[in-house]
Amino acid sequence: MRAYIIEDQQGWDALRLVERPEPTPAIGQVIVRVRAVSLNYRDLIIARGMYSGGTKPLGRIPVSDGAGEVVSVGPGVDRVKIGDRVAAAFMPGWIDGPLTAEKQMSSLGGDGADGMLAELVCLDQSALVRIPDHLSFEEAATLPCAGVTAWYALFEGANVQPGTSVLLLGTGGVSIFGLQLARLAGARTFITSSSDEKLARAKSLGADVTINYSKEPDWHKRVLAETDGRGVDHAVEVGGPGTLNKTLACVRFSGSIALMGVLTGLNDRVDTAAILHRNIKIQGTYVGSRSMFERLNTAIDQSGLRPVIDRVFDFADARKAYEFLESGKHFGKVVIAIK
Ligand SMILES: NC(=O)c1ccc[n+]([C@@H]2O[C@H](COP(=O)([O-])OP(=O)(O)OC[C@H]3O[C@@H](n4cnc5c(N)ncnc54)[C@H](OP(=O)(O)O)[C@@H]3O)[C@@H](O)[C@H]2O)c1
Repeated sequence: MRAYIIEDQQGWDALRLVERPEPTPAIGQVIVRVRAVSLNYRDLIIARGMYSGGTKPLGRIPVSDGAGEVVSVGPGVDRVKIGDRVAAAFMPGWIDGPLTAEKQMSSLGGDGADGMLAELVCLDQSALVRIPDHLSFEEAATLPCAGVTAWYALFEGANVQPGTSVLLLGTGGVSIFGLQLARLAGARTFITSSSDEKLARAKSLGADVTINYSKEPDWHKRVLAETDGRGVDHAVEVGGPGTLNKTLACVRFSGSIALMGVLTGLNDRVDTAAILHRNIKIQGTYVGSRSMFERLNTAIDQSGLRPVIDRVFDFADARKAYEFLESGKHFGKVVIAIK
């Protein structure tokens, strides 16, 4: 079977297509024929060696998110059967409850475990989640990281309800899922982007207030103006240190922020006075558990929600998919189909 592995090369030459023996399932294990994977910002920085302490997980199969069908099962498997359409949880070790260091170690496509950019993968049955019937494999492959993160950010780490005002930054994978899910809940949505064309697409998905952060660098002032100076109830912070102080400036007193992004780096000065003075609650958000994924899927089943995919690349063109995600030209998700 074919798989990509990460090698010690420059640029996207770090992704090499290799032949690997077909895996066979041991007790409790399942072989999944991967039909599609989706890329996240994390996949870029892992392949660039910028994720964990500046080292690349050499020899590892990259990419956390994929969906496919069960093609064989080992002894004792009762959670899924051959033919089931499934996706793997981002952290197979995080079934439920609070996150711990051990659970985080199980993240797919990083230091601790092989990922999904392969024709066949072998996973413990407990890693798997059935995907909604109305979704294609390409659509379902977008759920494990970006979909679950947005779900956690809105409904499990926060209490978004009809009428809640929610700020989303940029039009990447997490933010567009955040927009769709917040709209489902009847929230009032604010979204920023560097592109008027992308903002028009966000509007067509139901965004209430759109702001071009390139043309309006003080975008937080527009958010305040649109909320009569009060600020939004909740923000999904994908920007990180370069945007956090502005986000803090336009979240209301006793409002909340789900913090998960590193788009502008890892460390900078944070306006701690704003946090305490205005009683803002900040929830660190690292994807989510398998149970959260299952609750997201129930909501997708009920609502008929369809993830927004910008482009689908062929398996042989995986490097082009990485390049495209890195260009920032995308809206929503970038997918690689494995035929
Ligand atoms: N902790 C977690 O569990 C978790 C999970 C998923 C993602 N994340 C993090 O969340 C962030 C987003 O991930 P993603 O996969 O959704 O990324 P993505 O799809 O690559 O989204 C990138 C988009 O973010 C927008 N952006 C970039 N710089 C910005 C800025 N300064 N202000 C506002 N928007 C900006 C741009 O949108 P426009 O083109 O519209 O300007 C860009 O296209 C990343 O830092 C990622 O590591 C964390």
